[in-house]
Amino acid sequence: MNKKVADIRNIILKHHLWFQNSIPLIASENITSPAVDEVCASDFSHRYAEGWSGQRVYAGCVYIDQIEDICMELTKKYFDCIHADVRPVSGVVANLVMYNAFTSDNNGKMCCMSIVRGGHISHGPRFAKSGREIFGTAGTTRGINVEYLAFDNDEMNLDIDASAKIIREFEPELVLFGGSVFLFPHPVKELGDVAREVGANIGYDAAHVAGLIGSGYFQDPLREGADVMTMSTHKTLPGPQHGALVSNREDLIDKLRSCAFPALLSNHHLHNVAGLAVAVAEMLEFGKDYHKNVIANAKALGEALSNQGLKVLMEHKGFTESHQLVVDITEFEKTIGLGGDIEKLLESANIILNRNLLPYDIAQGRHYQNPGGLRMGTSEVTRLGMGKSEMVDIAEFFKKLLIDKKDPKKIKDEVIEFKQDFQEIRYCFQSENKAYEYLKFY
Ligand SMILES: Cc1ncc(COP(=O)(O)O)c(C=O)c1O
Repeated sequence: MNKKVADIRNIILKHHLWFQNSIPLIASENITSPAVDEVCASDFSHRYAEGWSGQRVYAGCVYIDQIEDICMELTKKYFDCIHADVRPVSGVVANLVMYNAFTSDNNGKMCCMSIVRGGHISHGPRFAKSGREIFGTAGTTRGINVEYLAFDNDEMNLDIDASAKIIREFEPELVLFGGSVFLFPHPVKELGDVAREVGANIGYDAAHVAGLIGSGYFQDPLREGADVMTMSTHKTLPGPQHGALVSNREDLIDKLRSCAFPALLSNHHLHNVAGLAVAVAEMLEFGKDYHKNVIANAKALGEALSNQGLKVLMEHKGFTESHQLVVDITEFEKTIGLGGDIEKLLESANIILNRNLLPYDIAQGRHYQNPGGLRMGTSEVTRLGMGKSEMVDIAEFFKKLLIDKKDPKKIKDEVIEFKQDFQEIRYCFQSENKAYEYLKFY
């Protein structure tokens, strides 16, 4: 084998071995099943199919159309809706389709959650109020003026009365719910009524919570008033990295379609459409059970970390209603450091998660690089078969590292041993391969 290729394969293999021996707690990630991996590694990854199924700009799409039709049908069934566009190649691209549909070509207006409180950079303006350039996607690519909704730090949710006032005064074209730090359902119904008063459309970014919603948990945005729901397909919905947009607004279907193609997309990564079809089929079969356990594990991990002395936000509300938890680690500032330092320490013991801004960080002088919080999620550990007792084990690893200050090398050995029992992917159709045995590497 050519040396460069061998090197590349070796590095990827090392990555597989590392994750095989780690506890994966990144809230925006998950792991695909062998059945998804198999179709993603098909010839579909080399083909073009611009346009809508049956109306392509390319020849050679007979079977691609059949797969995309199946993917759309399954997605409509999973989200109980009449329109599913499975072409956006990521959550950000699905958001851009929504912006195309609902905001003016220039100087459009949108209200959404502030980025520092858990909104996503794709919702952000080009400039902060201070004039500082922050390059948010909505502002940079579409010239959208963004006004942030009010947030209640104590409830980790939108403040309904203060946000209603902002919507009435700002009169946006689009009110967008959803975010990246997302512990509790957003008040779509309550603020949606206000959005309608000013003639705004209602969007919901379900990048994180799409799987929870499809399986019937968290909230039901399309029935609470959202005109469009966008998503990534690889977070709580355990598909390949891709995006989708769903809606129940029959009158908007043509517009939504053309706001994706030709307005935004060329080809749309057909192998991932195939992978998404398989992932949604799995979730129609196993999602109720899987996502019930994802949420139960998140609550159990919150409780266990709190019992070990860590400051998990929102104890008074059971920590979370989603797959996510947020932990305030500012008490360790003098001994270990802040979020960035703790993220590294945990990584050195094979516990993989990410640092996150707390809603009060900026006001207290902390910033993105080294914020006061950690965010974690239970989607992947649940898919690997862990349950409530393993959440207690994981919390003990945190205590040993952060409170007892044990040697991370020693804890890493314990983590590796702990992980040996969790090498198979659950809640999926059976396949020969184990979790980290990707095609052709073994
Ligand atoms: C709320 C939200 N929207 C959009 C995205 C972007 O998704 P993608 O990476 O699929 O483009 C993310 C990513 O984490 C997110 O949290």
